[in-house]
Amino acid sequence: MKVDVLLGLQWGDEGKGKVVDVLTPSYDIIARFQGGPNAGHTLEFEGIKHVLHTVPSGIFRPEALNVIGNGVVIDPIVFAGELDKLTPFNIDLKSRLLISKKAHLILPSHRLLDAASEQAKGLKKIGSTLKGIGPTYMDKTGRNGLRVGDLFSPKFQAKYEELKEKHLNLLNHYEGFTYDLTVMEAEWFKQIERLKALTCIESDHYLNHALKNKQRILAEGAQGTMLDIDFGTYPFVTSSNTVTAGTCTGLGVPPSAIGKVIGIFKAYCTRVGSGPFPSELDNETGELMRKEGNEFGATTGRPRRCGWLDLVQLKYAIMINGVTELCMMKADVLGIFDHIMICEAYEINGETITEFPYDVSDLEIKPILTSMEGWKTDLTQLTSYDDAPEALKTYVNYLETQLEVPIRMVSVGPDRAQTLLK
Ligand code: GDP
Ligand code: IMO
Ligand code: MG
Repeated sequence: MKVDVLLGLQWGDEGKGKVVDVLTPSYDIIARFQGGPNAGHTLEFEGIKHVLHTVPSGIFRPEALNVIGNGVVIDPIVFAGELDKLTPFNIDLKSRLLISKKAHLILPSHRLLDAASEQAKGLKKIGSTLKGIGPTYMDKTGRNGLRVGDLFSPKFQAKYEELKEKHLNLLNHYEGFTYDLTVMEAEWFKQIERLKALTCIESDHYLNHALKNKQRILAEGAQGTMLDIDFGTYPFVTSSNTVTAGTCTGLGVPPSAIGKVIGIFKAYCTRVGSGPFPSELDNETGELMRKEGNEFGATTGRPRRCGWLDLVQLKYAIMINGVTELCMMKADVLGIFDHIMICEAYEINGETITEFPYDVSDLEIKPILTSMEGWKTDLTQLTSYDDAPEALKTYVNYLETQLEVPIRMVSVGPDRAQTLLK
């Protein structure tokens, strides 16, 4: 069997949680491969809205197992909060949620370092979610990190103290940054016991055995391609590989095991946090989009910046990920516009550019836009793509021609049921 991959093609929040939940009945295992509590994946069904941060989005479907892979970073405090919110659903977490012993732990002092670093950057800040993501991945690559498996070692306390001491020394270099670690630390030590009580496994072996045993695996990405540490709009990115290649390193599955790559994009574009956004609408139209799409961060509540769909960016993301099929999300939100714009190219220093440039963070970019007719219809009650308005079909067909990848799903509302298959 193969591992199918589902990931975001823009700056995150494309609707990955919803689509994973919709697709889970076709899989045996849902596995997160990177990121951590910076993610906020929203699912809606039967009138319930649920936001997940670390737990994979297959958790509400009783037939699937959920794995938190080695590439994920876990904050025991955030994680315990998620477990609490799952309590009313009576899910047997001990058997349905498996955690890699190789996943790294976010310490309270990682969160402090994240905050200190952002404060020191001032206007140049990344707009981090302040969950400690950057410092934790820095300790991972710097070979100082603590992993879930370490929790079971008699030397754990000593290892923790050693790393904390390093962090406190670093914090001394941030002038004017004050903190009190005691409350956070007490809570952290309380909550690691909840993590230890779950099933911690050698997830690389587990997943490869599962593949041999013909189990169907869906890898769930977090963030989006433009936030990838290598291919995103550096330095305004997160600290992990959010692209298809991240599945291999984040789960321990070989490249030859990758099957379908399902790329998700909004019918427009959003970004939360700082950094370049060539098709951004910093005006009334953008505000209208934010209001209609309820574009506020699922993790931080911050307003998301909005703009038109950007084909230069999207084609780049499809290329890097090897996308084999697409899901277009939030088509309903564009139902308010007479005309819908699509960014086809960038004008940079008087030149027309169609390949996403290296130095996008430093360039003055003018988006070159094409106008398409809007559908001006409420799509949220649609149950079949065949009944969709012609203008929407024209939009979808146009994108398929431009992107050279089929759009298999069009989403017309946040609920599980508001999903049109093509
Ligand atoms: P993720 O991080 O990619 O899982 O996405 P988020 O959950 O952060 O943000 C997507 C938001 O859009 C959530 O509030 C979803 O409930 C919502 N959503 C998903 N699909 C649709 C859709 O087709 N239409 C509308 N109106 N909302 C959607
Ligand atoms: P999901 O999985 C949208 C953004 C932050 C910031 C940058 C770095 O819900 O799509 P970090 O905390 O990772 O150091 O922040 O990345 N960011 C996200 N934006 N969706 C996310 O996740 C994000 N995770 C991080 O806003 O700009
Ligand atoms: Mg999100």
